[in-house]
Amino acid sequence: MVMKEYLTLAEAADYVGKSKETLRRWDNDGKLPAVREPLSNYRVYRKLDLDNLFGDLLDDKIVESVSNYVRPDRDYKVIELFAGAGGLAVGLEKAGLKCEVLNDFDKWACQTLRENRPNWKILEGDIRSFSFEQYKGQIDIVTGGFPCQAFSYAGKKLGLADARGTLFYEFARVVKEVNPPICIGENVRGLLSHENGKTLEGMISILDEIGYKVVPIQVLKAIHYKVPQKRERLILVGIRKDIAVGYEYPKAYKRIYNLSDALKKGDLFNCDVPQSEGAKYPKSKIEVLDMVPPKGYWRDLPLEIQKSFMGGSFHLGGGKTGIARRIGWDEPCLTLTCSPAQKQTERCHPEETRPFTVREYARIQTFPDDWTFTGSVAQQYKQIGNAVPVNLGKEVGYSVIKFLNQYYQER
Ligand SMILES: C[S@@+](CC[C@H](N)C(=O)[O-])C[C@H]1O[C@@H](n2cnc3c(N)ncnc32)[C@H](O)[C@@H]1O
Repeated sequence: MVMKEYLTLAEAADYVGKSKETLRRWDNDGKLPAVREPLSNYRVYRKLDLDNLFGDLLDDKIVESVSNYVRPDRDYKVIELFAGAGGLAVGLEKAGLKCEVLNDFDKWACQTLRENRPNWKILEGDIRSFSFEQYKGQIDIVTGGFPCQAFSYAGKKLGLADARGTLFYEFARVVKEVNPPICIGENVRGLLSHENGKTLEGMISILDEIGYKVVPIQVLKAIHYKVPQKRERLILVGIRKDIAVGYEYPKAYKRIYNLSDALKKGDLFNCDVPQSEGAKYPKSKIEVLDMVPPKGYWRDLPLEIQKSFMGGSFHLGGGKTGIARRIGWDEPCLTLTCSPAQKQTERCHPEETRPFTVREYARIQTFPDDWTFTGSVAQQYKQIGNAVPVNLGKEVGYSVIKFLNQYYQER
């Protein structure tokens, strides 16, 4: 695809993997002067300048030799199923895709989507109650993080009808109804080993039956996609069988962001994390966690306290490094759960003995600060903890745009 010669500030920031704030500062410092658009006086950047200056300007440790950024040649439309509070949807939107229709049955997740994006069409309710036939041939991609469930096997190659009753069936049904060039399912790594791999095998054979070839499965590590969190997502990409264009996963970035990047002003966010509500630990847990240093966990406690805190799991073996864990500023956060004060998955703030607040949670998932969540504090944590990290969604979005640009060019 031919890239245009000038990039806007936002596009240039994406292209070099820096924040807009950094680029503005570099312009003011004369480090990377922008060109001004004659009428608006907005900053624009010559792509050639960015390419030429790339190696000289940026610190070797930070600079990426790759960028997944690609501009859509036209408006590409998405149907996002199991949309939750919009982690994947916001990421896809940031990449330049248009969210046409979103579905979820959770009242608060839908309210979150409506309040933040009044122009999105939100179908609230069980996916089983909606037909998507009216979108046939009008949508470029169907996405969805269907909850993982076992199929019942009759010992043969699984077909769509055999999966009836599962939420994967609903995902595949919508793909069949809409018939987009590409579909993407996302899930947890555990899907690889679920039922000894048979569940995933069944999904691949069902997609094959409805006319989609599945690209070799990859588990993407969010830390490689500008997310300060060690979360992983399994990506299941199906390409309609009449299409010869190949799909490439987004390339991994070298720079790993950490908790400090998430919560403090820097390259990921242009201000410190805003104040917000948050859960608290019970007094007994505070007394224990007070003894754990940053980057430490239950093994850093005195032996007697280890035993009482861990209870039965003390003798079970295994590292259990996520228990009674205090995160350090200079490391990515461990995977956030849906409830921050939950037992045996503590991710304590580095300096204060408390869980991360709602806005800190959102930052670690790379939601923008202006994306608000509705419902009780517990509901908000759940929506954030369930989400695909926005920046991971954005990079996946670029990979989809790259595929669609090529598909429409070659058609
Ligand atoms: C893992 S979350 C999806 C997160 C979302 N992709 C994001 O990035 O924020 C799964 C979602 O599926 C929704 N869900 C589960 N069963 C459903 C059903 N039968 N119909 C509609 N939505 C459903 C849940 O409410 C939940 O929000």
